[in-house]
Amino acid sequence: GADIEVDISAIEPGQLIRVMWRSKPVWIVRRTPEVLEELATHEDQLRDPNSEAEQQPAFAQNRYRSMKDEYLILVGICTHLGCSPQYQKDGAFEEAVEGVPNGFFCPCHGSKFDMAGRVFQGVPAPLNLVVPPYQYVNDTTVIIG
Ligand code: FES
Repeated sequence: GADIEVDISAIEPGQLIRVMWRSKPVWIVRRTPEVLEELATHEDQLRDPNSEAEQQPAFAQNRYRSMKDEYLILVGICTHLGCSPQYQKDGAFEEAVEGVPNGFFCPCHGSKFDMAGRVFQGVPAPLNLVVPPYQYVNDTTVIIG
């Protein structure tokens, strides 16, 4: 079928892996405790911190936007015009947003997203990055779709 099963056991803290699901790139990022704490620091700069503006799996309508806090799963397509945002970590994202060390930057028109895929204000992308439907079959295996 169109759903895919992914083994996440080898993803290192801070690492992003890419898989393809229904011809779309899907990212799986293993977030460190520091990155999870970072999500609380800039919510006043976000357009839609609770993901209320769009259809989402119910588990994604909160600060973490994931079923398990540690693993962020997103469709890796900018919600502006469909470019591929870049993962900028370990301080690299501070060039885009001061005081926020990790995030995603879209090189096409400068949209910025945090480590839950939430869009910052003042950029062209209108919506947070999309969380696809998924479920865990065990601690280290997730089915996307
Ligand atoms: Fe990403 Fe325009 S496509 S900012």
